Amino acid sequence: MLEITDLRVAYGGVEALHGISLRVEQGELVTILGANGAGKTTTLMAVSGLVKPRSGEIRFNGERLDQLKSHEVVARGVTQAPEGRRIFGPMTVEENLRLGAFTRRGPVPSRLVRRVFELFPRLEERRGQMAGTLSGGEQQMLAIGRALMAEPKLLLLDEPSLGLAPLLVKSIFETVKNINSSGVTVVLVEQNARAALKLAGRGYVLDVGRLVLEDLSVNLLNNPQVKDAYLGSAWETVDGAWLGLRSRPRSGPDPSYALRCRDHSTLLVCGHI
Ligand SMILES: Nc1ncnc2c1ncn2[C@@H]1O[C@H](COP(=O)(O)OP(=O)(O)O)[C@@H](O)[C@H]1O
Ligand SMILES: [Mg+2]
Repeated sequence: MLEITDLRVAYGGVEALHGISLRVEQGELVTILGANGAGKTTTLMAVSGLVKPRSGEIRFNGERLDQLKSHEVVARGVTQAPEGRRIFGPMTVEENLRLGAFTRRGPVPSRLVRRVFELFPRLEERRGQMAGTLSGGEQQMLAIGRALMAEPKLLLLDEPSLGLAPLLVKSIFETVKNINSSGVTVVLVEQNARAALKLAGRGYVLDVGRLVLEDLSVNLLNNPQVKDAYLGSAWETVDGAWLGLRSRPRSGPDPSYALRCRDHSTLLVCGHI
């Protein structure tokens, strides 16, 4: 369904993606993992037509997307809930949702809004509220809901778990699973590797603009390289807490760490060693 071949993207002469190739088949839920700066967002932006590739091809059901403008990409059935949500704060929840259907001609069918409210009942309760006053989790729901309003065949999600409490992450991920089960193909970009791999059937791992691994999620979850670099490896137990490596430095000075409760659910503290 989505086929990316040897994609290179540069920002002002500095190359961020050094030729990546990946495929997503219809109905799949695929995750793209990688540390900060790996090129995950750039990959999604290129698919959405928001950045132009330096070279390479992006095809969707055989058709080149990399030549199209972003609204033309949406019209083909590819939408994105961007990193940082990008909702319109001074507009209501429902107005934000309706904006997501901008590529349609004529009035927005109410069944589209209803479907989003079924997936995210919290949004229905807040349909008349200004989007800027929503909590982080609700804004994320709104960003996903807005992306669904164009009735996508392929939904691109950029770090939906960013900044959310663990319980909320769980709920959002469950909804993503439901969206996928309803027939929408999903590409999920995440730094929360463990949760993403539990949800997705397959995963790709990006490292500074290159794809370094691709495999079934079950294999990635058990891959020592992935465990070390992205899943956190337990170091020691201190008063019932779990200290894990969040990411191993490629070259930089220090690894970062995260101290969590034993069940890994609550982040107590994190930083650089
Ligand atoms: N608008 C931009 N201008 C210049 N450099 C950028 C821009 N966006 C991203 N980059 C650079 O491209 C690389 C990949 O970034 P990004 O795709 O945002 O990574 P990720 O989403 O995996 O954190 C990084 O080195 C980042 O600094
Ligand atoms: Mg990003």
